[in-house]
Amino acid sequence: MSVDSPNLLLPVPSGPLRVTEIPLINGIAPSPISFSLVIPTYNESANIQRIIQILSQLLDEFIPGKYELLVIDDDSPDRTWAIAQSLTAEYPQLRVMRRQQERGLSSAVIRGWQMSRGEVLGVIDGDLQHPPHVLLQLLKAIEQDADLAVASRHVEGGGVSSWSAIRRFLSRGAQLMGLIILPGVVGRVSDPMSGYFLVRRRSLVGRTLHPQGYKILIEVLARGAVSQVAEVGYVFQERQAGESKVTWKQYVDYIKHLLNLRLSLGHTQRFIQFGLVGLSGVFVDMTVLYLLSDPTTLHLPLTRSKIVSAELAIINNFLWNDRWTFGDVAAKQQGWRQRWKRFLKFNMICLAGLVLNVLVLNLIFNFVIHNRYIADLIAIAVATIWNFWVNLKLSWRVTQVK
Ligand code: GDD
Ligand code: MN
Repeated sequence: MSVDSPNLLLPVPSGPLRVTEIPLINGIAPSPISFSLVIPTYNESANIQRIIQILSQLLDEFIPGKYELLVIDDDSPDRTWAIAQSLTAEYPQLRVMRRQQERGLSSAVIRGWQMSRGEVLGVIDGDLQHPPHVLLQLLKAIEQDADLAVASRHVEGGGVSSWSAIRRFLSRGAQLMGLIILPGVVGRVSDPMSGYFLVRRRSLVGRTLHPQGYKILIEVLARGAVSQVAEVGYVFQERQAGESKVTWKQYVDYIKHLLNLRLSLGHTQRFIQFGLVGLSGVFVDMTVLYLLSDPTTLHLPLTRSKIVSAELAIINNFLWNDRWTFGDVAAKQQGWRQRWKRFLKFNMICLAGLVLNVLVLNLIFNFVIHNRYIADLIAIAVATIWNFWVNLKLSWRVTQVK
């Protein structure tokens, strides 16, 4: 069977939701194409023929022979998958997957991307509420080096047709909640609720995604290797046929998704690594202080010894943090100049942390707990949190959005 044979349904992948390099199908390398567009469907029998026709017309003009359409259907009662399958003879670039176990919009999109052959992956709703012509601007944005190109209702040229006030309120409310719980992710785009976007395959390869519910874009932003984001305005259209599958469950899933991402992205692991590095710094500081100032060693003045030991500890901590705690971020900002800049920022922040440490120590020791060691422990904890967050935001900025 050739990989491109029409009519056959696509095999349904299982296991982790992880996009790989372009997969071999039955050991055969698929014909290279540049763009794979997933159309997730559930009961879209009244829309599917039209959207396939419009998308094919559009892409045949723009990138003839270099794209594929993947309809990923969750065993729709209205047999959308069967209608789509019957269209494959007329549209050879159309491939259809009928899922009968796993369900859900987000996982459907990722399973489609897993079976895709394109360097650029995309998703569009199957109900024509996402105007297909916007695809051309999204593809152009990717060509101009964006890793992610999002169709947004909230930038110039964007909007929604006649949404009820309640729907607008819910959509904006969901966005606000995302900004509070995951500012570093949701804050990177103007329309994090959008289900219409393109992403470079390389930004997702090897990354296991754990989406919940409808909002696949947040998952891509949070776990993908996305540094450049582009946005294109679009007007969300009125549905012509069928109805929206959004229920309260999608909103509950959305909040659960945000909280899960917060926990897994909360930099918890990074903070633990930062703390361990800090401990090694305490060891360096104490050892150098002993070697320089102890009466049994060089017996140099305490303050001068402390300045040297603190600075050596800061250098030790920078080297470890740059290679281990923030290694993934540092790898994106290679070169001595960048590294030197990171070191200077780290140094300034840690020296400020030292001043904070001394101030908190005196404050607590003199006014709260008259025990120097407990006061010092609290002061070290406060300074560590200061050092971690300010370095995360300044020295090792996790992403830059152009
Ligand atoms: N395979 C599959 N499985 N497809 C689904 C499922 C599912 O469980 N649920 C919905 N779909 C498909 C629909 O058939 C449609 O093509 C698309 O996903 C969007 O579903 P709608 O039910 O029409 O969602 P909406 O109109 O309320 O749109 C909202 O959600 C979209 C998806 O995130 C808006 O926020 C859009 O911006 C967003 O793209
Ligand atoms: Mn819709």
